[in-house]
Amino acid sequence: MIPPAHLDALLEFLRFPSISTDSSHRADMHACAGWLAARLRTAGLEAVIRPTEGHPVIVAKNARREGRPTVLIYGHYDVQPVDPLNLWIHPPFEPHIENGIIFARGATDNKGQILAHVLGVAETLAEQGELPVNLTFLIEGEEEIGSTHLEAFLIEHRQELACDIAAVSDTGMLGRGIPTCTYGLRGIACAELLVHGPAQDLHSGIYGGAVANPATAVARLVHSLHDEDGHVAVPGFYDRVRPLEAWEREAWENLPYGDSDILELTGVPELFGEQGFGSLERIWARPTAEVNGIGGGYQGEGSKTVIPSTSMAKLSFRLVPDQDPADTLELVRLHLESQCPPGIRITFRAGHSGRPYLMDPNSPYGRAAATALESTFGRSPCFIREGGSIPIIRTIRDVLGADTLMLGLALPDCRAHSPNENFPLENFEAGIRLNRHLLAALAEPG
Ligand code: BES
Ligand code: ZN
Repeated sequence: MIPPAHLDALLEFLRFPSISTDSSHRADMHACAGWLAARLRTAGLEAVIRPTEGHPVIVAKNARREGRPTVLIYGHYDVQPVDPLNLWIHPPFEPHIENGIIFARGATDNKGQILAHVLGVAETLAEQGELPVNLTFLIEGEEEIGSTHLEAFLIEHRQELACDIAAVSDTGMLGRGIPTCTYGLRGIACAELLVHGPAQDLHSGIYGGAVANPATAVARLVHSLHDEDGHVAVPGFYDRVRPLEAWEREAWENLPYGDSDILELTGVPELFGEQGFGSLERIWARPTAEVNGIGGGYQGEGSKTVIPSTSMAKLSFRLVPDQDPADTLELVRLHLESQCPPGIRITFRAGHSGRPYLMDPNSPYGRAAATALESTFGRSPCFIREGGSIPIIRTIRDVLGADTLMLGLALPDCRAHSPNENFPLENFEAGIRLNRHLLAALAEPG
């Protein structure tokens, strides 16, 4: 049973429309950060809100005791935009509980999961007056937009944030009740492709045939990113891809998650990807090129006979060890320039990025995480990588020298980033217990 006060806290947290990408929600971001800092103080921690050039970061700590390991728990209070709004059964910021599942934007990603840690700590402090470790919470408001200002923040506050190990619950579990330990994440590199043609939209009858069409050009350029077998066709793209290790291939074959689950969860008629690789390898250990948005020209009702002046595509590339975002984007830029059709000019703008992450799940802290998951769920965990990205996890290693344990509670059908995002209260409750087991296990890593 979840104490009513814990549930109230979750409902309050979920009511903040903390959409980091939308500048009209700036005040909501501050209000949400303020609420969270107050919660951390109620739990018994010392919490400060630190401004950045973007959205504020919250840092909270318990009283330090010498000789204990220092654990950093990272999470984010920002959420993705809610569109298309009409597909939500209940408004995204009016949390709704049905059959033990709470529906709201951020329920899983990441408010439910980070709040479970905060409440776990609150419970332990209330019962025992102290924690078994030195604990730091680092909760940011820009994860969904690439943690743009957090790297500088880590560098600036590296002494204050120094830790032996970090822990994050912002990844998935393979299914209900299946504890899952994630030891790798893909990186990401985002970019925008702008295609320029005539100085303004033109009458497609008066000029069509004599002038290149930017909408056609963007389609051709996007097409050029892949070959027919689903491989990325950018020269050099795969040069630094580290192959999957034999133990991983073997372990993944026996996971209780695979093609039929992906088919069912996505609703696609068949799976498609890079030839020569299975779905899990494609998602967890191979890089991709994705078009996140494409546009240009008339999108309204009926027809309008124009040659649009411009068109665009939003691109992102998921990266695996040992690819580098800046190097990859440079390869893509060179490729697109080489493919640019006549009569067209392109601009290629690099966006935010994050490097891939891989850790050894068999390290002492990795084993402690597995113990905590086993104590929480009553069975031993699956070890997986994930296709999603949490760029700061790599930065935590590079700047603070600490690995991150990823103990995710998101179910495959949580609808993160989509309409009707949801989180089972059972997972919320498990998250609260997990925090307690985790801190205990980390206090004495085997
Ligand atoms: N929680 C996700 C990352 C994630 C999703 C990890 C699924 C593992 C499995 C996180 O909030 C997220 O969505 N990250 C963005 C990062 C990007 C905007 C830099 C992502 O992966 O698209
Ligand atoms: Zn997310």
